[in-house]
Amino acid sequence: MRLLFLGDIVGRSGRQAVLEALPGLRRRYALDFVAINGENAAGGFGITEAIMDELVQAGADVVTLGNHAFDQKEALVFIERQPRLLRPINYPPGTPGRGAGMFKTASGADVLVINAMGRIFMPELDDPFRAIDAELTACKLKQGADAIVIDFHAEATSEKQALGYFIDGRASVLVGTHTHAPTADQRVLPAGTAFVSDIGMCGDYDSVLGMDVEEPINRFVTKVPKQRFEPANGPATLSGLAVDIDDATGLARACAAFRMGPTLEPAAPPFWAE
Ligand SMILES: [Fe+2]
Ligand SMILES: [Fe+2]
Repeated sequence: MRLLFLGDIVGRSGRQAVLEALPGLRRRYALDFVAINGENAAGGFGITEAIMDELVQAGADVVTLGNHAFDQKEALVFIERQPRLLRPINYPPGTPGRGAGMFKTASGADVLVINAMGRIFMPELDDPFRAIDAELTACKLKQGADAIVIDFHAEATSEKQALGYFIDGRASVLVGTHTHAPTADQRVLPAGTAFVSDIGMCGDYDSVLGMDVEEPINRFVTKVPKQRFEPANGPATLSGLAVDIDDATGLARACAAFRMGPTLEPAAPPFWAE
């Protein structure tokens, strides 16, 4: 199974780049499954239902969220009728939406996707380790699902790496999201889970985390907010992780950085023949 996970879409520039590229990428590389973090898709803050529909039409199998999940208040309502939209599973009981879902590929494989949020330098949600452990205990690889994909939306690389080794061998892929800066530590862990601390963002990298540089600089220099954060609107780079999953075991055979766009070094995985 060929899987692509793309990082946080930031604003219109990131959104347009994803919408333009995704149908072609799916065809060109015969992708079986595409997941995208969409927590910053609407003007940098949250997601609207119109954007969610566009992403699915363009070829996203699932869209995950994070600390910005409900920045657009309409998400509290429409998330209930969008089965392909996940928010972190460790929000308190009663939070609208769901944190995990089972999705079918075109060839009939079942893919479990789990979205969770870290607790270091983040809002204090329930324990993500316990929440993910419960899901993986209920759904074992190759028994309950052909592949299991986790988006761990977290700030600290320590927390991400600890979770990686905690679930190693029980999921196909664990990607980190949230920092909007891709790390270069992608690897298959000893027991077979593909891992990267952060897959980066889909947005304009000529920016501070996808935002126009002026206001972030102002806030560091003066400590007085002057205006809203606005997404940078130059050409976007797509950034994510490509994974080759062994259909027999559900574990990763290989993973590689995926980049497409003007700023970062372009990279497509060597194991994706066109
Ligand atoms: Fe984000
Ligand atoms: Fe985030």
